[in-house]
Amino acid sequence: MKRLRFLLRNGAIAVAVLSLLSNCAPAREPIVIGVSQCSEDIWRAKLNRELQVAARYYGDVDVLFASADDDSQKQISQIDQFVESGVDLLIISPNQTQAITPAVERAYDAGIPVILFDRKINSEKYTAFMGADNVEIGRALGEYIAKQLGGKGEVAEIFGLAGSSPAADRHSGFMRAMSAYPDIKITGSYYGDWTEESGRAAGEYFKKNHIHFDAVFAQNDRMAVGARETLGNPQDVLFFGIDALSGADGGLQAVLEHKLVASYLYPTRGDLVIDLAMSILNGEAYARENRMESALVDAYNARMFLMQEDEIADQQERFARLNSNLEASLVQLNQQKTMLWMIVGMVMLLMAVIYIVWKSALNTRRLNAELANRNQELQTLSRQMEKNMAGKLEFFTSVSHDFRTPLTLISGPLERVMEGPMNREQKHYLGIIQRNVDILIHLVRNILDFRKIESGNMRLKLSHFDLVPAIREWMDCFQDIAADREFLYFGPETLEIDADRHLVERALFNLLSNAFKFTPSGGRIHVLLSQEGGEAVLQVRDSGIGIPEDKVPFIFNQFYQAGDGTSSGTGVGLALVKSIAELHGGNASVSSRPAEGSLFSIRLPLQHAENKVAAADYVIPEEDKGGRPVESYSGAAGRTEELIEMVAPEDDDRPTVLVVDDNDDIRTYLRGLLGSSFRVLTAVNGADALQKATREQPDLIISDVIMPVMDGVEFCRQLKEQIVTSHIPVILLTAKSLEEQRAEGYESGADAYISKPFSEKVLLSRVNNLIRSRTQLREFYLETGAAMGNSEREKDFFARFREYVQNNLADSELSVEQIAGELGLGRVQLFRKIKALTGYSPLEVVRIMRLKAAERLLKTTDKTVSEIAYQVGFGTPSYFSKCYREMYGKQPTEDRQ
Ligand code: FRU
Repeated sequence: MKRLRFLLRNGAIAVAVLSLLSNCAPAREPIVIGVSQCSEDIWRAKLNRELQVAARYYGDVDVLFASADDDSQKQISQIDQFVESGVDLLIISPNQTQAITPAVERAYDAGIPVILFDRKINSEKYTAFMGADNVEIGRALGEYIAKQLGGKGEVAEIFGLAGSSPAADRHSGFMRAMSAYPDIKITGSYYGDWTEESGRAAGEYFKKNHIHFDAVFAQNDRMAVGARETLGNPQDVLFFGIDALSGADGGLQAVLEHKLVASYLYPTRGDLVIDLAMSILNGEAYARENRMESALVDAYNARMFLMQEDEIADQQERFARLNSNLEASLVQLNQQKTMLWMIVGMVMLLMAVIYIVWKSALNTRRLNAELANRNQELQTLSRQMEKNMAGKLEFFTSVSHDFRTPLTLISGPLERVMEGPMNREQKHYLGIIQRNVDILIHLVRNILDFRKIESGNMRLKLSHFDLVPAIREWMDCFQDIAADREFLYFGPETLEIDADRHLVERALFNLLSNAFKFTPSGGRIHVLLSQEGGEAVLQVRDSGIGIPEDKVPFIFNQFYQAGDGTSSGTGVGLALVKSIAELHGGNASVSSRPAEGSLFSIRLPLQHAENKVAAADYVIPEEDKGGRPVESYSGAAGRTEELIEMVAPEDDDRPTVLVVDDNDDIRTYLRGLLGSSFRVLTAVNGADALQKATREQPDLIISDVIMPVMDGVEFCRQLKEQIVTSHIPVILLTAKSLEEQRAEGYESGADAYISKPFSEKVLLSRVNNLIRSRTQLREFYLETGAAMGNSEREKDFFARFREYVQNNLADSELSVEQIAGELGLGRVQLFRKIKALTGYSPLEVVRIMRLKAAERLLKTTDKTVSEIAYQVGFGTPSYFSKCYREMYGKQPTEDRQ
C-alpha cells in the first residue's frame, strides 16, 4: 500500500512535469519595441495598425505605443519613460525637431537603437531613419499646382506644425517649384498644426484678411479640407493637400469628390519599419537612411489608389484573422499536447497500479497460504502444548496426591516432637523442617485446587460474609514475617460479599506470599480494598523488585515463572489466584514496574443472583484448620543467619567457602554442614555474592542457579571474567538437572555442578576435592615457577607477573604497589590473587624468584656471592645469605661448583 501511495504521488508529479515541459517553449524574453508618436490622427492610426500587424509576423514581439498629442514636452517624458523601462528599440516620430532632439539623443546614448520615422531631428544620434522625401513632395506638388494654374495666379499656403521637419521641408520644396513661375504669387501663409481645426482657422484668417487666391496649398489633406469648408467650398479655388489616405475622411475620398484637386501619397508602411527594426535587433545589415517612394494622386488615379489601399486593408485584415486563427490553433495544440501527456502519464500510472495490485494479490495469496500453514502448525503446537500442560498438571496432581499422606505423616509427628523438650539447636533444625513441610503442604494444596478448578470440578461454596474482618484475620497470619516491612490495610471498615471464603483466602494468601517473597526488608506491602459498582476490588501492592514489562502478560499463566531470577516456585500460585477470581465471575490483573513494585488486583462480584447462600452455610474445611502456610516465608531464618555471620570469627584461617542462595533455610543448612571444616560466608543472590567474593576472595563458592537480581550462571560468568576472582572454584547447586542447563553452567566457567537434592557426602567430597586441587595447583605453581592454572586467564596473568618481576629482579626496592600498578590491580587484590594462586604473598614469591635466580648464577657463573646478591636485588650480601640458607638449608658458597 505504501508503495502504491508512493507511485501515485510520483506519477502525479511526473504528469505535471511532462505537461509543463510540453507547454514551455525554450524560455526567451519577448522583444519590446516602444513607439513614440507625436500625435493621434487617422494617418498615425493607420501606421500603428501596420506596425502591430507586422510585429505579429515576427512572433514574440511586443509593441508599446505612446502618443504625445502634438505636445513636445509630453513626448519627451514618454521617450524618457521608454528608456527607463528598458525597451529593446524605439521608433520615434518627433513632434518638433529642435525640442525632441535631446530626448532622442538620451535614448541613443543609453544604448537603445532608435528609428526616426517620418520626421527628423537635429542630430546624428539615431540608428536609422525611414520616411518619404518631404522636399520632393512639396516640390512635385508645387509643380503640379503651377501647371493647374497655367503658370499664373495667386496661391495661399497653410503650414504644418511650426518646428516639425515635414512642415519646413514641404515648404522649401514648394518654394523651389514656385521660383520657376514668376507669375504665381504667394498671397498668404498661415501656420497650422496638421489638424483640421487649424485648417479651418487658416480659412477664417484668409477671409478676415481679405486674402485673395486661386489655389490653396495645405501641407496635409485635413488642413486643406478644413480651410475649404470654412471658405464655403468655393468652386473657383483649387485646393491641394498631402497624405492621400483611404477611408471616408481620407484624402483619396476628398480627391474623388473633387474637394481637392490633388493630394500626395504620404506612405505609412509600418511593415517596412518593423522589418528595419528586426534587422537592427538581429544584428543584420540595414540602411541608415531609408527613403520611401510616394506619388501624386489626382482625379485620374485616385480610384486606383483607393482600390489598392482597400485591397491592402483587406489583405491585412485577412492576415490578422489568419494570425488570430493560428494563435487559437496553437493554444488548442498546446492544450491537446498537455492532454496527451497527461493521458500518457495516467496510462503509465494505471499500469503501475495494476502491476502493484496484481503483485500484492499474488503476495496476499502466498501470505495467506503461509498463514494457513503457520496456523496449522500453531494449532498442532498448541494442541501439543495443551497435551503437555495437561500431562504436567496430571503429573503434578498425582504427585501432590502422593505427597499429601507422607507430608501429613511428617507434619503430625513433628508437631508432637516439637512439643517435647529439646535443646536450642534441635529446636532450630526442627523449625526449618516444620517451615519446609508447611511450604510443601501449601504448594500441594495450590496444585490440587488449581487442578480442581481447571477440570471444572471445583464448586463454589458461597457464603455471605464481611470481607474486611476476614482480610484483617488473614493478614494477621503474616504479621510475624512482616517484621521491618510496612504491612498495612487500606479500605472501608466493612464490605459484605457473597463468595467462597476459603478460596478468597487462598487467593489473598498467594498474593501476600508472593509480595513478601519479592519485597526486601524496609519495603512496603499494602492490602487495599474498595467497592467499584457491584464489585469488590481487592489489591496487594508491594514495593518489591517488580516484574519486567515483557513478562507481565504471562504472569498469571500456569507454570509460568518470570525466568530471570525474579521468581521461583511452581508457577501455579498466581494462576490459581486468577482461576479463583474467574470462578467467582471476576478477574485478576497486575500492573508492575521493575524496581518499583507490583500491584495485583482481584475483582469479585458482591452478589451472585442465582445462588444466594446464607452465612450459616459456610463450613471451614477440616484440612485447612490450623495450617501455618505463611510461616514458610518467614524472614526469621535469615535474621538468625545474619546473627551467626556477625559473630563468625574474622581471624579464622581455615579455607573460606561462600554459600550463595536466596533461600534462607538452604543457607542455614549449608552453613551447618560446612561450618565444622570451613569458614563459611553467605550471600543472598549473585550480585551480593560478586561483591563479597571480590572483597573476601573465598577459596570456594557454592551457588544456587535460580535467584533474584542476578542468577548463578550470570554470577559465575562475571566472577570468572574478573582477574581478581577468576581463580576461585565454583560449584553450581540447583534443583534443575537438565543437561542443557548443566552445559550452560559449565560454559559460564563453573567447576562443578551438583543437582538438588544432593547428598551431603557428595557435596562435601566435591568441596574438599576442589580445595585440595587448588592447593596442589599452588604447589605446582611454586615448583615450576610457571603458570599452570586451569584457565588461560590465570596462565596469562601469572606469566605477566613473573615477567615483570624477572625484568626488575635487580631492583631491591621493587614493591607490591609497583607490580600491582603494572598489572592493573589494587595492592590488596594482587596480594589475594597471588596468595590464592601460589599460597605465598607477592613479596614472598619475589624473594623466591630472586633466590632461584641466585642459585642459577652461583652454579653457572664465576661471579662473587656479593655480586650475585646485588644482581638479584638483595640490599646486603649478609641478608641474601640468610635468606638463601632459609630456603635451601645451605650457604650460597656451598653451591659453587
Ligand atoms: C499625421 C501628419 C500627416 C502629415 C505628417 C507629417 O500626423 O500630420 O498628416 O503628412 O504627419 O509628419
